[in-house]
Amino acid sequence: MSIPEAFLMLHREMTRQGPGTPEDVRWALSQIELPEHPRVLDAACGPGADLVTLAEALPLAQIEGIDQLPHLVDEARDATDRFSNVTVSEGDMSQITGFYDLIWCAGALYFLGVTEGLRLWRNALAPGGTVAFSEPALEADASDDARAFWADYPQVTDLQGVCARVEEAGYEVLGTRLIKGLAWAGYYAELSARINGLRGEGNAALTQVLDAAEREIALWRAAPDQVAYVLVLARPRLMAL
Ligand SMILES: C[S@@+](CC[C@H](N)C(=O)[O-])C[C@H]1O[C@@H](n2cnc3c(N)ncnc32)[C@H](O)[C@@H]1O
Repeated sequence: MSIPEAFLMLHREMTRQGPGTPEDVRWALSQIELPEHPRVLDAACGPGADLVTLAEALPLAQIEGIDQLPHLVDEARDATDRFSNVTVSEGDMSQITGFYDLIWCAGALYFLGVTEGLRLWRNALAPGGTVAFSEPALEADASDDARAFWADYPQVTDLQGVCARVEEAGYEVLGTRLIKGLAWAGYYAELSARINGLRGEGNAALTQVLDAAEREIALWRAAPDQVAYVLVLARPRLMAL
């Protein structure tokens, strides 16, 4: 087994692939106005936890999920098979076309870059459409432990820095909400259970991946009140004529 294969094995059969809660989705929906029959995309939907919350909250919406990994697409289809208004497909979120009233993207816009991704998505939004995305954020006075957690993500900035990247893309920030504490605890509890279940398989690559995941969890435990995503609601600014 290779390291990438071991990584994928560890992250199989998880409810989600990163921190977040149904409350985060519901908060975002409470902050924006959507048409009666909105078209919604979950970009990089992973195993589909947020698709379920979106489908429960928006029964009249047409909801699509997209992810680049086929096994996550399968998991997301299983998670949403009771909803007739949800479809999930394999694809690249940098290639999406619209028009969507809401593009939801939890813990994944950094793969494109906040500014770059928002620029790409401008033409995929319906008039008045919104992008909601979560992105790592680190306050200026963060402890060394919190900085150590983000050492592998040097692009991390504080909230103002994230908002500046949104503005640079020609969007305005409609609202923000911090995602920390319980959302991370829940994600890491599930990941810990996966680690414990896979320990003892005796495969070198898998052992390396499990050790790395345990180190990540230990880093988070050292600063659980300071490790955060910021959930941002952003809408394109109207172009001056
Ligand atoms: C940290 S996970 C978050 C998944 C999900 N939003 C969640 O919160 O459970 C990041 C996801 O981004 C997906 N991804 C990364 N780059 C992508 C791309 N260009 N197009 C589609 N999916 C992508 C990965 O396959 C993975 O499922």
